[in-house]
Amino acid sequence: MPDLSINFAGIESPNPFWLASAPPTNSGYQIMKAFDAGWGGAVWKTLGVPVVNVSSRYGGLNYRDKRMVGFNNIELISDRPLSHNLREIEEVKKRFPHHAVIASLMVQSRQEWHDIVRQCQDVGADGFELNFGCPHGMCERGMGSAVGQEPKVLQTIVEWVMEVATKPVIVKLTPNISDITEPALAARRGGADAISLINTIQSIVGVDLDHFAPYPIVDGKGTNGGYCGPAVKPIALNMVKNCAQHPDIKLPISGIGGIENWRDAVEHILLGASSVQVCTAAMHYGFGIIREMTSGLEQYMVEKGFNTIYDMVGKALPNVLHWEDLNMKYKVTANIHADKCIGCQLCYTACEDGAHQAIRLNAGTRVPEIIEENCVGCNLCSLVCPVEDCITMDRTDDGTQHLTWKQRAAAGTAPTEFEDDKAGGRHHWVPAPSAALGKERHKTLPGKARVYSGETVAPTEA
Ligand SMILES: Cc1cc2nc3c(=O)[nH]c(=O)nc-3n(C[C@H](O)[C@H](O)[C@H](O)COP(=O)(O)O)c2cc1C
Ligand code: SF4
Ligand code: SF4
Repeated sequence: MPDLSINFAGIESPNPFWLASAPPTNSGYQIMKAFDAGWGGAVWKTLGVPVVNVSSRYGGLNYRDKRMVGFNNIELISDRPLSHNLREIEEVKKRFPHHAVIASLMVQSRQEWHDIVRQCQDVGADGFELNFGCPHGMCERGMGSAVGQEPKVLQTIVEWVMEVATKPVIVKLTPNISDITEPALAARRGGADAISLINTIQSIVGVDLDHFAPYPIVDGKGTNGGYCGPAVKPIALNMVKNCAQHPDIKLPISGIGGIENWRDAVEHILLGASSVQVCTAAMHYGFGIIREMTSGLEQYMVEKGFNTIYDMVGKALPNVLHWEDLNMKYKVTANIHADKCIGCQLCYTACEDGAHQAIRLNAGTRVPEIIEENCVGCNLCSLVCPVEDCITMDRTDDGTQHLTWKQRAAAGTAPTEFEDDKAGGRHHWVPAPSAALGKERHKTLPGKARVYSGETVAPTEA
């Protein structure tokens, strides 16, 4: 069987799955239960200055029959006494010496940082995660994302922590910033051992249409909160990739954001994470999801021949290029497999109104037809089609040519003005505006002349 254990910047863990700092890691009771269920590590709910929480504090974004595809909270850091948390950290470490117990911290002054780091070290925490990410409540007090958005301040605080830390220090980054690599570089300059990302995204998850207040509602009012859950995974993946690809960051990355199953975790790992953290999914489904996560990951590693997690870390990074380096000669065309088609015609509507008018309806059948010469290979129809593999995007170039925008620009063959004949859209078929109002507009049937924005073009072969 593959080896799932990791050594993350010096923190040992039996597997890469950690609970993120959040309600599931609020107490020793929960963390012991999670370790017993199979989680490899836990980042304790952030410890720091005294706070008081409000009621209510969570909001959910439901999509059709799916509950909580996005999740929003206005909760602060731990409101439990520090002494209770410290006592429980010690107890968990004694019972689970080989699991990762990481203390998440957020305080203000240099002295406070020194004190809390020493206190956590004394009770056996395996490492620290500095919470520079919380985008509500704490940032108004100059902490959380207020630090994560100021690389210089972030670096100074990391330096304070490094003055006394004898255990690895992870800096948790806020996504509420235009370039995530700036605070990541500041963390490195400050001497951090690793970074983790993302914390929650500042958001309003919805508005109560009767009471005119944003969710979650506190006595008729609301405030912006932090967004997480499945909906944020694409943003997290991109930021993990940006940090992993940056030549000067070179720090282990703990990937967080929208991880609900082993596949989500593998995506984070393939883009450079070497541990992953989960919050919303554990809040939604409980600690038991770890069973599917570990067995799914193991199965995937066996199939791919990966012996350790490190065989897969960053494996997708060489395939994530800048747009200008993509092969413009590569072409795919939509292909409808009539035997699978249920005739819903969603693909037709999507292509007709939202893409390139490259699908037609023919009399006597509900199975639409692709007009190959109009298809730009955008994928939209295959994305809206409700039947798996009913529309495939098949390669239609001969695979012999490779030309990128960068190469075109260097060779002087890139278009330089709107009317330039070398521009891509010049040769695409676009119906004339007046065709939109004609009764016959759908009937771009073979054998009929078609109007191409202004010019009439010869009929295609039947
Ligand atoms: C209710 C709630 C409370 C949270 N509290 C903390 C916290 O105290 N410290 C922290 O660093 N992150 C906190 N987070 C952020 C999570 O650790 C995590 O970064 C984020 O939820 C993204 O992961 P997910 O998509 O798996 O939920 C909290 C998230 C939620 C939903
Ligand atoms: S969306 Fe898919 S199933 Fe529906 S008509 Fe198009 S090809 Fe057929
Ligand atoms: S791939 Fe795009 S252009 Fe081609 S048929 Fe589908 S929606 Fe239309």
